Amino acid sequence: MTALSAAAYQRILGANDRIQVGFIGFGLIGRQHVFDFKNQKDVDLAAMCEAHQPRLEEGLQEMGPNAKGYRDFRKMYENRDLQAIVVSTPDHWHALHTILACAAGKDVYVEKPLSLFIDEGKWMVRAARRYNRVVQTGTQQRSGLHYQKARRLIRENYLGKVLNVRMNAARNITPGFGKFSDASPPSELDYDMWLGPAPKRPYHQLRSLYHFRWFWDYSGGQMTNLGAHHIDILQWFMGVRGPQVVSSVGGRYGLDGDGDVPDTQDAAFQYPGFTAICSLREAGIGRRVPGLEFIGTKASMTIDRGGFDILPEMKIDPNNAVPQFRGHSSGGVNRSTTKPTPYTEPMKEKGSSEQQFDLHVRNFLDCIKTRQRPIADVEDGHQITTACHLANISLRLGGRSIRWDAVKEAITGDNEAAAMMRRPYRKPWDKILDDLKLL
Ligand SMILES: NC(=O)c1ccc[n+]([C@@H]2O[C@H](COP(=O)([O-])OP(=O)(O)OC[C@H]3O[C@@H](n4cnc5c(N)ncnc54)[C@H](O)[C@@H]3O)[C@@H](O)[C@H]2O)c1
Repeated sequence: MTALSAAAYQRILGANDRIQVGFIGFGLIGRQHVFDFKNQKDVDLAAMCEAHQPRLEEGLQEMGPNAKGYRDFRKMYENRDLQAIVVSTPDHWHALHTILACAAGKDVYVEKPLSLFIDEGKWMVRAARRYNRVVQTGTQQRSGLHYQKARRLIRENYLGKVLNVRMNAARNITPGFGKFSDASPPSELDYDMWLGPAPKRPYHQLRSLYHFRWFWDYSGGQMTNLGAHHIDILQWFMGVRGPQVVSSVGGRYGLDGDGDVPDTQDAAFQYPGFTAICSLREAGIGRRVPGLEFIGTKASMTIDRGGFDILPEMKIDPNNAVPQFRGHSSGGVNRSTTKPTPYTEPMKEKGSSEQQFDLHVRNFLDCIKTRQRPIADVEDGHQITTACHLANISLRLGGRSIRWDAVKEAITGDNEAAAMMRRPYRKPWDKILDDLKLL
């Protein structure tokens, strides 16, 4: 497969044309995506690539008799009938699967988090632009109608000035998913293909299907897994490209099972004019707090996939907020009789998770036809994931503050941290990437 040969033959699609879609990965989210694309009236489920044979067979069965099966995605990309690729593989594959699909002239729907490290995101944006491809990031919440309404309200100042955003994700999975020894990979899994550009190491039961999330080699832990969804909404609502300063602390304190990403992590982000806190817990829930909350001078808003809820702030005489105890002595603060009044009206709206997936896929398909940028364009995905990676870089460096220049896309004043924006690829994927000259 050469970089431009495939791009050259692709024709422009009309509104009534059908789109031939190929899928890579039929795991937790891959199965959802086959369902979502199957529901669209102008899609042919044309191909499936899986490194795990039983999943490949299940996927093909779900897709119907016309779908072709592949074990090597490069072969699937040679299929000239395919216009779009849906990437539902683990994080360490997102960049290469996307870049090579772009080079082969395919449009791409790629799952979040966009990348495993910051530079990968830059290469992905470059590839999308160079080959003129539509690349949608799988942050489907953006397509939710209540998220769009909430964004409008914030941009129209319904909450007043938003000064702080709070993000939380908590569960208790103590003691973890177990301890395992290195073993031979199961015969049904092409483990070398599963590993791809990640470091070569012996197979281990958690280092593959679904559980890859608990290892830095393939993932950024919950910061890029769940944190990416929160930071997506934060940066999109607030209209910012990225934070200015990030620091994060945490560790693997509670879980006993295998894995090396933190089970407890707190990150602080300084954005222009507001701050954000992200708190992630795997071994203790505590009191239930909202997943995502925007706190403004006139109101606050909690929002999740099920809806949003706006609670007005009360306008008070500031003197009435000063403690009294036995009253102030001469020259102290006097309270007034002014009654508190709400700054604005409360408001609630419901949302639907299923609708978010469906509309996100629809937006991608429409953009394939119109050649417009999708609602979660690759560059948005890159900026979101960058904020998550910066938090993880800080955490892995013991919690020091990382300064980020969002325009230059550079860590400033810290060479050690800047070196962590890139990781090496394993052979032959390093050369395959080099040959595209995106670096
Ligand atoms: N948007 C969302 O709400 C959402 C929800 C869940 C997962 N995700 C994201 O989706 C991605 C996949 O997560 P998952 O839970 O579905 O993982 P999973 O392990 O269940 O599925 C991934 C599949 O990819 C296959 N695969 C790996 N490398 C391959 C290769 N080179 N060629 C072909 N197949 C390959 C694996 O065999 C596996 O079946 C992750 O990045 C995750 O963050 C997003």
